[in-house]
Amino acid sequence: MKIAIMGFGVVGSGVGEVVTKNQEMLVKKCGEPIEIAHILDLRDFPDSELKCFTKDFNDILNDDEVGVVVETMGGINPAYDFTKKLLLAGKQVITSNKELVATHGTELLQIARERNLNYLFEASVGGGIPIIRPMYSCLTAGEATDVFGILNGTTNYILTQMFQCGESFESALKAAQQKGYAEADPTADVEGFDTCRKIAILAALAFGKAIDYKKVSTEGITKISAEDVAYADKLGYSIKLIGHCKKLEDGVYAGVFPAFVPKGNPLAGINDVFNGIIVKGDDLGDVMFYGRGAGKLPTANAVVADVVDAIKHQNVNIVIKWDEHKDENQSQGDSLAYAYYVRFSGVAPANVPGCSVVAFSESSENEFAVLTEPKNKKQIDGFVNSLEGCKPISIMRII
Ligand code: HSE
Repeated sequence: MKIAIMGFGVVGSGVGEVVTKNQEMLVKKCGEPIEIAHILDLRDFPDSELKCFTKDFNDILNDDEVGVVVETMGGINPAYDFTKKLLLAGKQVITSNKELVATHGTELLQIARERNLNYLFEASVGGGIPIIRPMYSCLTAGEATDVFGILNGTTNYILTQMFQCGESFESALKAAQQKGYAEADPTADVEGFDTCRKIAILAALAFGKAIDYKKVSTEGITKISAEDVAYADKLGYSIKLIGHCKKLEDGVYAGVFPAFVPKGNPLAGINDVFNGIIVKGDDLGDVMFYGRGAGKLPTANAVVADVVDAIKHQNVNIVIKWDEHKDENQSQGDSLAYAYYVRFSGVAPANVPGCSVVAFSESSENEFAVLTEPKNKKQIDGFVNSLEGCKPISIMRII
């Protein structure tokens, strides 16, 4: 099988490395050798052992012997246009591009389905963790109720470095970039946009309806302070960037937020670049997935496993299907109740109604934090402004 790689960055070059290094084993797994016939990238790689670089997409599109194309370019354009042209030309496409899957996945999957091809995207969520395939094959017998995930390796690495090693946000981010974890623009990591695209994909798989990730309420990790961490630690919690999706009466809800995670919850112990995803099912109970959420070789492994699957399923579409997005199918989660951590400046009243815990700072007399009972959006908005003489400084959900 001749394959092509589009985009020779961190993941694309990892795919080249894995296919070359594991050639003998891959022959056994898919029954035929895999040959990298073209690598599309605008940059030059004179030192690469691979010598099949091109700057012209048509070299791939017009090569009838290429049956599977790996898209590791990232971004919507030109990845969308190229993917569509390749599928329409009868080539299978494998991607790690979460933005493209979250934006145009419904359409690209349909094109693949109509032509007995496959559009596979295991590497788009959770790096090297097998999560997409279990979602569409192993967890199909019953209804999922919730998915909770630590879905971004960069932010989890930063939070771990900051809070376990006392490193600054900036230097932890720089290290994550050097390790090849971060997006080209790391704003997508630290502001939660990357997690947002990933939870949108998981929501579509879990509940069978595409959601518009641009309408997912999304908050990143940039506002978390050392004081918040001190409170969390004292009260028995970790702080993690969480993607959550759930089917509510008014539609499918998805949200991204930094959360207090009780230390007894398995997600609290997931550190460094690791990701963890808990899928809750009606009959199934909780299932958890864990592994490296970013990085060259873990992510490349997920891509190459999809290449093997595509080779094993030539002319057979592996059904992955969700309904087109409709605004009326997407909930903003206003009715969903979470317990909250709220930190206030001011003097704590003798009695704070609706709160299970009141805690005090060790460094400042003029502030305190509370843990509330579960409240929906309207209730928490009302609560934070209800304490006379006190101003909210930070608010986080508790999962
Ligand atoms: N920037 C992403 C992360 C890469 O840190 O998780 C993997 O999707």
